[in-house]
Amino acid sequence: MAQRTYDIHRATAPIRIDAKLDERDWQKAPSVGDFDFPWFKEGEKEPTEAKLLWDDDNLYVSWRSHDRHISASVTQRHGPVSKDDCVEIFLSPNPEKVKNYYTFEINAIGTMLNRARTDWWTGPPTWEPGGVQYRATFHGLPRKDESPQDDHWIVEAAIPLKNFARDAAHTPPRDGDRWRLNLQRLGGVTNAQASTWSPLPEGVRSFHTPEAFGTVRFVNQPPQGSQDAAALGREIYNRSCTMCHGQDGTVGDRGPALAAQRRYLRTSEADLFDAIKNGIPGTLMPASALPAADVTKMVAFIRGLRATAIDAPTEGDVARGREVFHSKGRCSECHMTNGRGGLLGPDLSNIATERSVKFLREALTVAKPHIPAGYQPVRIVTADGKAIRGILRNEDNFTLQVLDDSGKIHLLERGELRNIEYGRQSLMPANFGATLSAAEFRDLLAFLSRLGEPGRSPAPAGGRRRR
Ligand code: HEC
Ligand code: HEC
Repeated sequence: MAQRTYDIHRATAPIRIDAKLDERDWQKAPSVGDFDFPWFKEGEKEPTEAKLLWDDDNLYVSWRSHDRHISASVTQRHGPVSKDDCVEIFLSPNPEKVKNYYTFEINAIGTMLNRARTDWWTGPPTWEPGGVQYRATFHGLPRKDESPQDDHWIVEAAIPLKNFARDAAHTPPRDGDRWRLNLQRLGGVTNAQASTWSPLPEGVRSFHTPEAFGTVRFVNQPPQGSQDAAALGREIYNRSCTMCHGQDGTVGDRGPALAAQRRYLRTSEADLFDAIKNGIPGTLMPASALPAADVTKMVAFIRGLRATAIDAPTEGDVARGREVFHSKGRCSECHMTNGRGGLLGPDLSNIATERSVKFLREALTVAKPHIPAGYQPVRIVTADGKAIRGILRNEDNFTLQVLDDSGKIHLLERGELRNIEYGRQSLMPANFGATLSAAEFRDLLAFLSRLGEPGRSPAPAGGRRRR
């Protein structure tokens, strides 16, 4: 029988390992297809729906097993779980060395058994993979007995890809990388099951048959339909509108930016829809022949670009983000929040009601092309030889107002200065993408994107800031 193949799509959002499979990515991911019953004699063939996803950290696997007689009693780590109602994945990260494979066998009450059947593993028959997270429907029960209500059970697992660094060509895999694997379902008392995704050759009596594993391909694409309207709208926009406007809503050769910090003429959904569908009479902005559903998605995309962070705060550990803000990031040395902190940078107490998430992310990773007014760093030497370092708050033909590093304001007469040196770089360090870990950065952003009073109506995105 022919070996099976499957494309593993990339998850677009975090997957919570809770044996629920309610994320949009799981819902939209295709199933691997019907399982095969190699040794079937009698009883009922109960279907198993298995799916796979991946991201930079993990391979995700899920099994939804239809089962009218669910039972399991093995609770000991590496115990003989395959006697119970149990699901398995066996995988060979290197298709050239298919005999180097790793096993994950999990029963309905969440007991796991692992082996590394590889040419390099010299330890005991069992193996301890690092960081696997998994959940089964009856996770943690001391035993599960058959019941008339039995209908199905689920196992969901996140397996860190770094466990396979020895065999895989790349971890995380690159677009198009192929691995070999099989998925199995077995065990139970009444109507015991034995089925596999990729069929076994005639006469073979064991699941441990790597030659029969199916081939999976990692594709760097989300499951079809898993993205939200705004993400789809972005694609349509980038395809259809960038001969005038810029990529991703930036300014283009013949059309204005749709996402920059400016006042927009049209902000309501209806006005945006109308401008895109019918064009703007008397200007270059043409009517669009795209279907209404596509226009609606682009409206969602454009509104998303303009939304302030507080409308769409990002995921992460807010308490840890606050910690990063005050310690490792040293943000509070220059920025105030709620009346505490330094004065050299803008007060960030309400930043989430004033700026979008995209803006915040960029503020932390990309230096602004021009130093904003009021934040020009200067070094000044006065006529009597005193050195002052700080930022130029204000200046005119005769005077300078300088805020020094210690928070003191100096009013200086130009005529009385020996030297003024203007710094070329903003004091704002824009390399936090490199100096913070990915997790710290995520948590910091989660903290920043909640800075502001939720009750208060946000300043119009792109409007002038209150300072
Ligand atoms: C031929 C060039 C051109 C193309 C193609 C084009 N636009 Fe425009 N668009 C413009 C110009 C010019 C304006 C500014 C009109 C004005 O002065 O009010 C504009 C304005 C807009 C506005 C209003 C901005 C505001 O602040 O109110 C929206 C929204 C918009 N375009 C979306 C789109 C979308 C979505 C598409 C693709 C379906 C698109 N445009 C294709 C040239 C273009
Ligand atoms: C040495 C002083 C200094 C430190 C440390 C610092 N900043 Fe800044 N930051 C500034 C200055 C000055 C500006 C204004 C000039 C600019 O935007 O380049 C600024 C601008 C910003 C802005 C843009 C605000 C706006 O509305 O334009 C954000 C957001 C921000 N900082 C966040 C942070 C965070 C978060 C940290 C810590 C991870 C941090 N800053 C650390 C000095 C600092």
